[in-house]
Amino acid sequence: MSTTAGAAAPQPTETEQDLLVDVRGLKVHFPIKKGIVFDRTVGHVYAVDGMDVQIRRGETYGLVGESGCGKSTFGRALLQLEPITAGEVYVDGIDLSTLKGEKLRTHRRHMQMVFQDPLGSLDPRQTVEQLLLEGMRAHGMASDGKAARKRLSELLTAVGLPAAALSKYPHEFSGGQRQRVGIARALSVDPQLIIADEPVSALDVSVQAQVINLLGDLQAEFGLTYLVIAHDLAVVRHISDRIGVMYLGSLVEEADGQDLYDTPLHPYTRALLSAVPVPDPTIEDTREQILLTGDLPSPANPPTGCRFHTRCPWRQETRCDDERPQLRVVEIDGVPSNHRVACHWAEQIASGELERHTVDPVEDDEPYWSQTDEEADGTEAAARDLPGSSG
Ligand SMILES: Nc1ncnc2c1ncn2[C@@H]1O[C@H](COP(=O)(O)OP(=O)(O)OP(=O)(O)O)[C@@H](O)[C@H]1O
Ligand code: SF4
Ligand SMILES: [Mg+2]
Repeated sequence: MSTTAGAAAPQPTETEQDLLVDVRGLKVHFPIKKGIVFDRTVGHVYAVDGMDVQIRRGETYGLVGESGCGKSTFGRALLQLEPITAGEVYVDGIDLSTLKGEKLRTHRRHMQMVFQDPLGSLDPRQTVEQLLLEGMRAHGMASDGKAARKRLSELLTAVGLPAAALSKYPHEFSGGQRQRVGIARALSVDPQLIIADEPVSALDVSVQAQVINLLGDLQAEFGLTYLVIAHDLAVVRHISDRIGVMYLGSLVEEADGQDLYDTPLHPYTRALLSAVPVPDPTIEDTREQILLTGDLPSPANPPTGCRFHTRCPWRQETRCDDERPQLRVVEIDGVPSNHRVACHWAEQIASGELERHTVDPVEDDEPYWSQTDEEADGTEAAARDLPGSSG
């Protein structure tokens, strides 16, 4: 934005200063190629299709949704590891899409990823010491040998591993210990933001709580900001300050953690929460259970209007099929203004004015790769016409 000569640049508000991550209208569309001689683009996978997410410094943001809804693509796009189709990603006030080469690499130090499968993400030929030093060296943080050794020892203590772990290889550890190595590696370059993509899904239930607690302790110690991605609401429940629920490429609901659990407003969130068992047997016997019909539709051919309409037990004759709902603040007593939901009928569903009905299973459209080129072109054109799908 240009300013008139001599005029002072507008000062960021307190909330803006507080934001570490500010994502606006993010879209990541993967092209679907077809053809033997000419690689023609016959469609797109709308993996991320209009995400607006703000994460404050020191906050834990939990992102949940079914497999294939675009969670990992969103996390990777934050790091500029996926080509961005549209939208902006600001981290610490800098638009990452404007950074290239060395500048992008330097800035990436502030954002590190912890993966689901530590064994797959750690080079099996490197010892823990080599693994930890690798990132530090790449960012010029290991030039002083004595300081580097001190840092390695501090990192191991922080993640609860013995000093002897330095000379071991990833396969010599248990799953939980390996995830501790993965976390130590992420911490080694002193990041501000950690994107933890399904950090405990590959671990035994008994170990999951330990790793979740460790993440919490490290956050308090190092003032970290987290984006924790999970398909399981139970995982993000205890650590998230705020939770975003994702469905087919965009958020359908966002609220403070407890608020989301106490007052889920979107039919999809209600269905997800109804699948989480409650320890109290009296509540468990009487709680609302909403079984979703059918699988997640293909992100290559998303439903028109509200993307959840093919499975929604509250779907209405008007608006649901042809008007894509935006994430909005609702006017419902007791619901705070930071609780947003993308449903045309959230108020009427919450008041009970609209009742749940059965859903007839919808046959999934043919996948792109089984269509003729002409059919595929037609479907893509229709998909492009969806509100919020341009770009
Ligand atoms: N490089 C790619 N090229 C084409 N399609 C892709 C690519 N990466 C991901 N996709 C597709 O984008 C959609 C979203 O994938 P993504 O991995 O982000 O989902 P997810 O929510 O993380 O799922 P999961 O819970 O299984 O990890 C999926 O349909 C996936 O097949
Ligand atoms: S907009 Fe309609 S289809 Fe979508 S969640 Fe709300 S009621 Fe269901
Ligand atoms: Mg994933």
